[in-house]
Amino acid sequence: MVWLSRRSILKGAAAFGSATLLSRHSFADASLPVLRAAPASAQLAPAGYPATPVWAYSREAAGTVPGSEIRVLAGESVRYQLVNDLPQPTAVHWHGIRIENAMDGAAPLTQATVPPGDTFDYDFVAPDPGTYWYHSHNRSTEQVARGLAGPLIVEDREPWLGEKGAATRELVLVLDDWLLDSDAGIIEDRWDDLHAASHGGRMGNTVTVNSVAYPELDIQPGERVRLRIINMATDRIMTLSLPHLSARLIALDGHPVRPRGAETLVLGPAQRADVAIDGRRDGEPSTGLMLDPGNDEWVEIASFIHSGDTVLAHNPDVRPLPAWGTLAAPDLSDPQRETLMMEGGAMRGMREARFAGKTMGFRELAANGMVWAFNGAANQMDEPMFRAALGRTVRMELTNRSMFPHAIHLHGHHFTILSQRGAANMEGDVRDTVLIGADETVEIAFVADNPGVWMIHCHMLSHQQSGMMAWFEVA
Ligand code: C2O
Ligand code: CU
Repeated sequence: MVWLSRRSILKGAAAFGSATLLSRHSFADASLPVLRAAPASAQLAPAGYPATPVWAYSREAAGTVPGSEIRVLAGESVRYQLVNDLPQPTAVHWHGIRIENAMDGAAPLTQATVPPGDTFDYDFVAPDPGTYWYHSHNRSTEQVARGLAGPLIVEDREPWLGEKGAATRELVLVLDDWLLDSDAGIIEDRWDDLHAASHGGRMGNTVTVNSVAYPELDIQPGERVRLRIINMATDRIMTLSLPHLSARLIALDGHPVRPRGAETLVLGPAQRADVAIDGRRDGEPSTGLMLDPGNDEWVEIASFIHSGDTVLAHNPDVRPLPAWGTLAAPDLSDPQRETLMMEGGAMRGMREARFAGKTMGFRELAANGMVWAFNGAANQMDEPMFRAALGRTVRMELTNRSMFPHAIHLHGHHFTILSQRGAANMEGDVRDTVLIGADETVEIAFVADNPGVWMIHCHMLSHQQSGMMAWFEVA
């Protein structure tokens, strides 16, 4: 793996012109604030490299990556008119929000894609507090990789910040993984790379925090800070560590957990973790956010600069976040049982699977861009994987028979992890995306209490595109 390092100086860098907007609108219906998706430019690579042409969401004139932060109180509405100034159709998915079906943005299942030059009105309630994000849900392997993603923070109505044992401040840390060429341009000819898709997915070479390579983040000595960490990478699992900061995990995928040690954290694509850290005291060396790129050679992807006055010694116990109180508990006495079998990929493959209404062998599947299957079917969109009656508890066994981990995401619902071998997730945790290692089985349960048609897919977007996508219906 080649990392664009902070020390490399680019020689003979080509200059990039500023991106051009591709269409013009008449804003006849200006009742909703605008969220624009448009080409923009961002300094992703370290200083000395050119800026990178990206696609970005923004409420202001100039697009940014990550997209503009959206922040509401639990129970409030999120209301935006998406304006598509991209050269492709698009749609916005509000990841992890237990949303009304028509607003889910899961094109083409819950809405038609929005053509270039067109608009779509999103207007929905965000019921549960926590750390979420929004991202493109059309051609997402390309569109998310180009930058179409941003944080969506739903604040609790009960106070936590500033309370005894809580943090005094919070920092949203968006992690991303960009595949850049030596001029810092996004490498564009690999969206359909089946080799990458049949392995761990399309890996980048530049990991950024809030779209900056190796940022320095200021905290005060001894200060307790809430980090809202979001993995927006298309495919990369972020194995993270926060050494010497007394890191305690306080929420996963927005859902509070009883505070527990979090020196190491594993976040699959789309997963989030809220962590409380305590700044080091005077005289102690500074430290950073470390990432293991997969070879056990930890790289510091952001450093914490300790400056200012020392904050008074605090309570070593972290105050738990207020409980949600909005999620129905699964009734395990007589659940509907479902299974999800993951097969395919390099080294194991699959002999055959159904695709586009016919059973195909491995070669024909690959010729159609399919290298993965759920329950023997690749990207089955013509009928649901299962149907559940409204209010019924679904107990699902997810088995990974492949040689690669997968990050399985259910739309519209959060689920409880009943059992899992391995350490990436803990039994009893409630999540919207679960990372399942090779040969691992995870059991989950959820109340199917949100009517509609909901996608279920791997959030390694290269896997989603190449077979790991399906949907279920709640009615
Ligand atoms: Cu963030 Cu269909 O997913
Ligand atoms: Cu996967």
